[in-house]
Amino acid sequence: SKLVICDHPLIQHKLTFIRDKETNTKDFRELVDEVATLMAYEITRHIPLDTIKVETPVAIADAKIVSGRMLGLVPILRAGLGMVDGILKLIPSAKVGHIGLARDHETLKPMEYYINLPTDAKERLLIVIDPMLATGGSAIAAINSLKQRGCDHIKLMCLIAAPEGVKAVQDAHPDIDIYIAALDERLDERGYIIPGLGDAGDRMFG
Ligand code: PRP
Repeated sequence: SKLVICDHPLIQHKLTFIRDKETNTKDFRELVDEVATLMAYEITRHIPLDTIKVETPVAIADAKIVSGRMLGLVPILRAGLGMVDGILKLIPSAKVGHIGLARDHETLKPMEYYINLPTDAKERLLIVIDPMLATGGSAIAAINSLKQRGCDHIKLMCLIAAPEGVKAVQDAHPDIDIYIAALDERLDERGYIIPGLGDAGDRMFG
């Protein structure tokens, strides 16, 4: 599995204001949406192309179109929802599945409370989306759920990750590529990413 850190200057710039505790809900949502679009550009960098003929006003051109698997986005509720629209701006034909997971605040173990996937999810390349990869428990549980349903083309996209979470996902799912905007220092005893951005779900939805 590979870990890709999306270090485009615009992503890094916007991430600074996502981290800032003075950033209000409206701006936080807009910035997460914008970073998701930029990350979608990076995550699709190597998707396959076919060559077709296209008739321009003056000649026939050999031209490219994307081919291969159609995409499916799978946000982990709640915070993953904040990245969906930004990705759909670049990949409007993607379908969207939803997985609801909540961490128990004491054990930090994720509980699945909802799952609903597109009917053809197995045929698609699924991108699991969550702004935060902390212990990795939520991402691992989401990927487990998808694999149990026969989906095995999966990537993981997060804004911020703790090294502990990256390692946990890599150990549990060595076949999954992980795309993040920043690799932070560590987790604290409450399972928050340090320095992180606080609680993404709360900052986005209240
Ligand atoms: C947060 C965050 C991730 C998860 C990361 O969600 O949005 O989904 O925790 O932690 P982990 O890697 O240790 O599993 P939370 O459970 O607070 O739910 P919410 O998004 O609904 O606020």
